[in-house]
Amino acid sequence: MMTASLPITFQLNGHPLTVAVSDDTPLLWVIRESAGLTGTKFGCGIGLCGACTVHLGRRAVRACITPVKDVAGAQVTTIEGLSPDGQHPLQKAWVQTQAPQCGYCQSGQIMQAAALIRRFPQPTDEDIDAVMNGNLCRCMAYVRIRKAIKIAAAEVRGAASHA
Ligand code: FES
Ligand code: FES
Repeated sequence: MMTASLPITFQLNGHPLTVAVSDDTPLLWVIRESAGLTGTKFGCGIGLCGACTVHLGRRAVRACITPVKDVAGAQVTTIEGLSPDGQHPLQKAWVQTQAPQCGYCQSGQIMQAAALIRRFPQPTDEDIDAVMNGNLCRCMAYVRIRKAIKIAAAEVRGAASHA
């Protein structure tokens, strides 16, 4: 298959980024190597673990299997851009519940959860399991992650009701 290496520009955490790489380069490498943002992790490399989850627009996607050409002109958000001060309700709930163990999967978990609570403002266990089941945690932190998601969703609902 032919690949090209024309400059590709997209918005990364609200700032334009232009890279000249082969257009089938995984977005994950561009984020980690070109932009130097290492919060997004490499796990499996084949779309099966969720460690590399970022947002493309408002959707959670796996950066390891997203060719950079697919994000040309689009908005990409990584864990570093989720909140300007690290105080997103999910990040606070993650700290409150001490959700991480080794931490490796957690930025992907949080990015997936951020997409989840936009879609399900009051998520049930079933909602959480359905949306989060592709985000694996080898430390088995699933119970704390589920609790943290519910705490964060409640904070977001409370903020919306007072807006
Ligand atoms: S590293 Fe992308 S899904 Fe596992
Ligand atoms: S906290 Fe270790 S892999 Fe999830």
